[in-house]
Amino acid sequence: MNSAHNIKSIQNLFKEELKTFYPQREIENICYLLLEHLLNYSKIEIQLNKNEKIEQNIFDQISKALNDLKQSVPIQYIIGETEFYDLKFKVNKQTLIPRQETEELVHAIIQENKIKSPKILDIGTGSGCIPIVLAHHINKACVSTVDISAGAIEKAKENALLNEVTIDFYHRDFLKWEDYSWDNDFDIIVSNPPYVKESEKELMQDNVLAYEPHSALFVTDTDPLIFYRRITEFAKGHLKKGGKLYFEINEALGHEMLELQKSMGFSSVQLRKDLNGRDRMTSAEW
Ligand SMILES: C[S@@+](CC[C@H](N)C(=O)[O-])C[C@H]1O[C@@H](n2cnc3c(N)ncnc32)[C@H](O)[C@@H]1O
Repeated sequence: MNSAHNIKSIQNLFKEELKTFYPQREIENICYLLLEHLLNYSKIEIQLNKNEKIEQNIFDQISKALNDLKQSVPIQYIIGETEFYDLKFKVNKQTLIPRQETEELVHAIIQENKIKSPKILDIGTGSGCIPIVLAHHINKACVSTVDISAGAIEKAKENALLNEVTIDFYHRDFLKWEDYSWDNDFDIIVSNPPYVKESEKELMQDNVLAYEPHSALFVTDTDPLIFYRRITEFAKGHLKKGGKLYFEINEALGHEMLELQKSMGFSSVQLRKDLNGRDRMTSAEW
C-alpha cells in the first residue's frame, strides 16, 4: 500500500520535523542517507524521482527514524552503515562511527608506504575502518588488528567479509600487551586509540555522548596519553628498524605527543594537521 507521501514530501517533512534539532544542511544530508538506504537509490536517482510514491512500510521506517533522530541517535546507527574512504562499513553501538580525520590518517599511510607487502598492526579496531582500508589499498599488505571489545571485533569481521579483505583479528586488552605473544617485525603500527579526556565530555554533542561507546572514546584526565605511551613502548620492540608509527591524536595534546615519542627514541617525529588545520596526527620512525 502506498502512503500519502512521495520523495519530495518526505524531504519537506524532514525539514519541518527536524528544524529545531539539526542545521538545515545536515537535515538534507540525513534525509538523503536514509532514502538512499531505504529505497536503494543513489542521490541522483532520488533527485530524479521526486514524485515517486513512498510505500507504507517504507514510510513506517521513515517515521521511526524521525523519532530516533529527535532523540539524537546518529543516522549511521539508524541505517546501520556508513562510508569510509569510499568503502561501505556496517556499524552498531559497539563500534565508533568512523570520522573524517581518520580517513586522512589512512590516506597518509597509503601515500607514504614504500614497502612491498608491508606487515601492519592496527590497535583499536572499532568498525575495522583502518585495517580494512589499508588491506584494500596496499597491495598484498598483511594486516592484523586488536580490540578489547568483542562486539567491535565481530562487526569488523563482517566488514572485512563485505569488503573482501583478509585481516587477522585479536580480541585482547592492549594495555596488557605484555601478557600476549606478538610478532616483532611490523613495518607499520597505527592507532586511533581512545583520547578524549573525561573533563571534555561536557563539550561533546549529545549524539556522541549518548550513543557512541565510551570505551572507544574516553581516557582519564590524570593519564590522557596512556594508550599512546603503552603503544609507543610496544612499538619499540615490535617495529622493524625504519618501521613507521602513526597515531590519530587529541589536538590539545600534540606537543606532549611529540615529546613522548622523541623521549622514547623515535626519529622523524612529526605533528601533522588535518584538512581543517588542526593538529590531529603524528608519524614517527623507529
Ligand atoms: C577511538 S576508537 C577507534 C576505532 C576505529 N579504529 C576508528 O578509527 O574508527 C578506539 C578503539 O579502541 C578500543 N579499545 C579501547 N580500549 C582498548 C584496550 N585496552 N585494548 C584494545 N582496544 C581498546 C575501543 O574498543 C575502540 O574500538
